Amino acid sequence: MQKVEELPMQIKKKYLLKSKDSRKNLVRIEADLRSMVSFRQLNLMDEKFGLREAFDVIFCRNVIHYFDHPTKERLINKFYNHLIPGGFLFIGNSETLDKINTPLHQITPTIYQMPI
Ligand SMILES: C[S@@+](CC[C@H](N)C(=O)[O-])C[C@H]1O[C@@H](n2cnc3c(N)ncnc32)[C@H](O)[C@@H]1O
Repeated sequence: MQKVEELPMQIKKKYLLKSKDSRKNLVRIEADLRSMVSFRQLNLMDEKFGLREAFDVIFCRNVIHYFDHPTKERLINKFYNHLIPGGFLFIGNSETLDKINTPLHQITPTIYQMPI
């Protein structure tokens, strides 16, 4: 709840609903937007993720810092193969792709972009 308070009012009005249980300090996501989301489990260590899609954005925050350099580089290049041209990879604030050999361009310290 605290996190959604910071969203612009226009976004909140368009996409957020009150919790069905008014005693709970929660929000629900509006149905059309919710229907666009699917959840799947994958193992980042798998050679292929079992995904055929390429994504506009990949969020992988606070995960890669557990991996050694070769593992991290392999994973980042797998993400690369699942981004559309111009797509973004978001990593955690305490993470870096320094010394990782990748064609992704650094846009801000934690946002990388696939060349168009
Ligand atoms: C510190 S948590 C970060 C969770 C979330 N991304 C966040 O920022 O709050 C690290 C997550 O990495 C997941 N993880 C670690 N190794 C993984 C792997 N090989 N495949 C998929 N997920 C993995 C763990 O299950 C855990 O949920």
